[in-house]
Amino acid sequence: MRIAVFRKAHFNAAHKLYNEEWSLEKNKEVFGLCSNPNYHGHNYDLEVKVVGEVDPETGFLIDLKVLKNIIKTEIEDRFDHKNFNLDTPYFKDKNPTTENICFLIHELLTAAMDPKFEITVRLWETERNYVEYPA
Ligand code: NI
Repeated sequence: MRIAVFRKAHFNAAHKLYNEEWSLEKNKEVFGLCSNPNYHGHNYDLEVKVVGEVDPETGFLIDLKVLKNIIKTEIEDRFDHKNFNLDTPYFKDKNPTTENICFLIHELLTAAMDPKFEITVRLWETERNYVEYPA
């Protein structure tokens, strides 16, 4: 029986979106408020979907305590109250857009979890805007 389990999480983090090759004006035009040179914060909401087979011994797809701890260690402890541009090497030369953050979260969770699970990540940057990976 293939089934999906979901777990939600939350973290706050700062970022700035910009392209060094562009003028301040063009950055502002393309990235809007997110191009503010002194950074700004977002309240990110995360939803992790895990798909797989139910374990006949436990009746669980995955123990939610285990999933909760993986999300805490890999994502919340790493990103909460941090600055994506300055604190995460992955964003040294890459914009911390919702797309790129969502992709990175998927990479981190996939590396930390049993490969038998299929993982989908949804990340909300605002109440109305969210990204899902894989598409
Ligand atoms: Ni922003």
